[in-house]
Amino acid sequence: MAKKKSILDLQKMKESGEKAAWVTAYDFPTASFVEEAGMDMILVGDSLGMVVKGYKGTVPVTMEDCIAHCQDVRRGAPKTFVIGDMPFGSYQVSDAKAVENATRFLKEADMDAIKLEGGRRIASQIQAISDAGIVVFGHIGLTPQSSSQLGGFKAQGLTTDSARELIKDAQAVEDSGARALLLEAVPPEVTEFITKKLTIPVYSIGAGLPCDGQLLICGDMLGMFQAFTPKFVKKYANVAEVEINAFKEYIKEVKEEKFPTDDHVYHIKDSAEDFEKLFNEF
Ligand code: KIV
Repeated sequence: MAKKKSILDLQKMKESGEKAAWVTAYDFPTASFVEEAGMDMILVGDSLGMVVKGYKGTVPVTMEDCIAHCQDVRRGAPKTFVIGDMPFGSYQVSDAKAVENATRFLKEADMDAIKLEGGRRIASQIQAISDAGIVVFGHIGLTPQSSSQLGGFKAQGLTTDSARELIKDAQAVEDSGARALLLEAVPPEVTEFITKKLTIPVYSIGAGLPCDGQLLICGDMLGMFQAFTPKFVKKYANVAEVEINAFKEYIKEVKEEKFPTDDHVYHIKDSAEDFEKLFNEF
């Protein structure tokens, strides 16, 4: 098992050109499989609202939800760099509230970093959390928590006007002390420009190849999340199909009394006659 990465290792990977691979995870078993596979990082995303809890978006997710899932993931992946996602409402109100909530991810769930959404408009929160000694990952482009302001889950930076705003936001995130930036649903031309311009690692979810690494949502890449599949997702497995088929086969075997077989039951230690005598006592 490789040594747990630090933010300095992630910075060195940018400098050497080694790409970082990361996925989201929300529970103990998935986190342990991700660690076993040798992933560089895990994000405990507030996408848990959709992937785990069946909400339509991330807005209803609470600090309590995030902390509980971060704890589960940390138990499953003790040697992986794990980032806790700050939910909607946990950092917008004030710098003090942002620092208080960011601190909880480290104290209560042993996270290595936190992530929050937004550029210039949350620069002071990024600065305050960084000044408190916490590693901050920024996230701009398609920011799901403010998708209603964006008019839906829409790609960003497609026009020069929109790209200009993204570049200003990216620079503000770095200047405020963030140690990494995630670009979501941004064209590769803009991703490449921002990756070269910033000194911190720049990662993509739906932002193309020319950057420092890739993130995917585990429910999307494993074929578990059924509600919709964004254009940028590649499915590496069809776990939903595997699970549904397994459940169907189990139902059939129960109905046909083919399960359990002799292999799946406990065997008596005294003789059948002794048990017969026992049953006759009642
Ligand atoms: O919550 C999450 O998983 C995220 C990704 C969409 C980047 O923030």
